[in-house]
Amino acid sequence: MRYLTIPLFLALSAPVAAQEDNSQVDAGRRALASTTEKFTDSDGAELYRRACSGCHGAEGEGAYGAGKYPALAANPRLSHARYPVNLILEGNGAMPAFDEWLDDAQVAAVVSYLQTNLGNEYDGDITAEEVKRMRAEFADLEEG
Ligand code: HEC
Repeated sequence: MRYLTIPLFLALSAPVAAQEDNSQVDAGRRALASTTEKFTDSDGAELYRRACSGCHGAEGEGAYGAGKYPALAANPRLSHARYPVNLILEGNGAMPAFDEWLDDAQVAAVVSYLQTNLGNEYDGDITAEEVKRMRAEFADLEEG
């Protein structure tokens, strides 16, 4: 019974974090893709609830167990938008890359939400235009 209450994203990625097995990361991303391609929300709170809270907690409290999902509540690393934008677009380890699933406005909306909610009191004024520039920059870095 308890298993059924594990959020989808957590269920997908807990084995990944435990085993660092790339095929499972890929499987998790594919499953994630099928659930996120329907994201049409432009509301940061709603995007957070649907795309992020499964791993990071409804209040951004994080989850620490088989895997480690950092708290986003009162997190000083959110003070500058560039860091969360990079994580969201590129992913890292068990954090999935959302570059194909969220457009520039959606990334800006969810980052602004995080910067001004869940105990964070930062500017939250990043624009879609700025996300667009960062997206191009990160893609260039990847190509080397
Ligand atoms: C499948 C689980 C999962 C989902 C879904 C997820 N994350 Fe993460 N996130 C992680 C993990 C794991 C890390 C730690 C990555 C690392 O080790 O660098 C992380 C790290 C982060 C960090 C960096 C935190 C820090 O203190 O360094 C930010 C910001 C972040 N995620 C934002 C988001 C946002 C916004 C979303 C939704 C668009 C999201 N995450 C969805 C698992 C997830």
